[in-house]
Amino acid sequence: MLLGQNHQEYHESLEAVDDQADNPSNSGSLNEMVESGRRNFLKGGLGLAMAGFLGGSGLVSTAQAHYRPSQRPDIGFNPIPVEQNPNFDTVTVPKGYSAQSFFSWGDPVEQGAPAWQKDASNTWQDQMKQAGQNHDGIWFFPFRDKPNDQGLLVMNHEYINPTLHPGGLTFKEDENGLRFRPESEVKKEMAAHGVSIIEVKRSTDGAWVRVMDSKYNRRITGMTPMALTGEAAGTDMLKTMADPEGRTVLGTLNNCAMGFTPWGTYLTCEENWKNYFVNRDKDDYAQRVSHHRYGVSNQQNSAYYAWESVEPRFNATPDKEQAHGGYVNEPNRFGWVVEIDPFDPKSTPKKRTAMGRLVRECSTLSLGDSGQMAFYFGDDTRGEYVYKFVPDKVYDPKRLTSNTDILDSGTLYAAIFHDDGKGEWKPLVFGQGGLTRRNGFFSQADVLINARRAADIVGATTMDRPEWVAVHPTTREVYVTLTNNKHRGKKDDQSTNAANPREDNRHGQIVRFTEAQSDPTAITFDWEVFLLAGDRPGATLADNSKVPENLIGNIKGDIFSSPDGIWFDFQGRLWIQTDYGDDSERNYNMGTNQMLCCDPVTAEVKRFMVGPRGCEITGVTTTPDGKTMWVNIQHPEISFPASDGKTRPRSTTVMITKDDGGVIGS
Ligand code: FEO
Ligand code: CA
Ligand code: CA
Repeated sequence: MLLGQNHQEYHESLEAVDDQADNPSNSGSLNEMVESGRRNFLKGGLGLAMAGFLGGSGLVSTAQAHYRPSQRPDIGFNPIPVEQNPNFDTVTVPKGYSAQSFFSWGDPVEQGAPAWQKDASNTWQDQMKQAGQNHDGIWFFPFRDKPNDQGLLVMNHEYINPTLHPGGLTFKEDENGLRFRPESEVKKEMAAHGVSIIEVKRSTDGAWVRVMDSKYNRRITGMTPMALTGEAAGTDMLKTMADPEGRTVLGTLNNCAMGFTPWGTYLTCEENWKNYFVNRDKDDYAQRVSHHRYGVSNQQNSAYYAWESVEPRFNATPDKEQAHGGYVNEPNRFGWVVEIDPFDPKSTPKKRTAMGRLVRECSTLSLGDSGQMAFYFGDDTRGEYVYKFVPDKVYDPKRLTSNTDILDSGTLYAAIFHDDGKGEWKPLVFGQGGLTRRNGFFSQADVLINARRAADIVGATTMDRPEWVAVHPTTREVYVTLTNNKHRGKKDDQSTNAANPREDNRHGQIVRFTEAQSDPTAITFDWEVFLLAGDRPGATLADNSKVPENLIGNIKGDIFSSPDGIWFDFQGRLWIQTDYGDDSERNYNMGTNQMLCCDPVTAEVKRFMVGPRGCEITGVTTTPDGKTMWVNIQHPEISFPASDGKTRPRSTTVMITKDDGGVIGS
């Protein structure tokens, strides 16, 4: 694969490897698939979804009978239309709201950082101190004494775009197909990944500004030293020639969505890290589950940027001459939740191995009445699973220091969504449920590093690319976005099931569940398909052709495709963000990517924001009073935020306020 330099080709080439199914665990004949699809239609989630269309004909699923609805929030704005102009290059929000760009790729973060250069001529050393590219998950940590007026904004920088360099990414290829990169480009790319921490405050005139000389301003990059902690830390599978202790890693990569803890730390999640590594030894690769089950490349080059041509640790081909096989274990040191204390700028980020190794989208907290917790994870690849981690300890707000290493011990679970609307959490614990020597597990560290394989064995349900998870602030209902899956019902290992009921599922769905007794630590739950994204029944596309059945959804209100970001604000509004190709004919009626606001009781959806052409909208947070919101516009195509048709486009955090000073969405 060669990365294209043009926006559309580049993103198509990344998508081709990001979401490629790695799951060999399920198989079935085509006849079995069609038959099971039909059964699921009647029994499970789609049956429920269709009940409305069928005029209350008695098709009520068991899932609905168990379901406990949440409370209705106040959603008062007038929704906005889709944006179909191919040259649209700004953001629109409803009447009565204002949006302004706040923090863009290249903006100075750390003290001494130079200004962003429009021609992308900043060096990698500059980039180490400037905002990274591809803003994603974001969270506002308020200061205790003025929570609505000052705090830290922390956000992820997921990956890079050709805009990072003056003339795009430079590759050379030899006669054997090996690709080579300039060192300065690779270093700048590593520096543009990771996390930014910036202090923000309201100035005396009420406007939000950055505190440019704050001691908290910090960049964490693909080169920042971090600690491995928890059960897998220090084990042989995490040792490399550069780190014989197996406890220190350089950098975090592909930081997509996020989470936070009640003790005030940020959780950044490592998503498509697999695409930064290569293992060229076909025999070794075939038997090394920790590589092939996650989709690490076994071609000549890593799937993304050929960093291995400059940084040896990205070449995970075993080297018998070197201690610990060289860097064969380096890919095992990515895929974790990384805990960062934004209030201690000298702190070392910690990769928490007890939470398992995934192609991890997010880490979303649910906090129980007694301080018990769950953190929910999506593993975003076609046909992968939903997980949660339940710490052994409870959160103690009175003894903050005792919470520091809570994430180092607990139980990891994978979810089964039974077709009857009941669900189960299967513990991934060495020695239980087939996670034994016979199946290749010799310790809990094996289970954590090969969490996908462990989840295969306990029979977790394959899902349509699990992305973000949202937890309702009072009822603790859990909502999961399943963004899309073109292989569903088409490939042997991707047969339809009740939670993933649509063949060739291009628009995705949102599934919700409620844990038994609304307890985050429960091991059973009730679930249903909350909505199927897609076009309205009877819709037509640009060429007047009828929208095919697999692209029809059941959204009440404003339509969208490919839900990705999802978050409940403090008053129970469900915010949904999208990530689809806005240049695809299939998405003609959806326009550019968008953020919507949904009532979880009625499932009514109102479009709140549309973004510039070519972007994804991802990551949202507000001040505790809900009156200032920050949203990330990732990889705009044309010239946003300058929006002048010529300036290099930049991923940007946009700040939204209501003109009357009210709560966003009310
Ligand atoms: Fe980076 Fe699954 O989105
Ligand atoms: Ca995402
Ligand atoms: Ca996505």
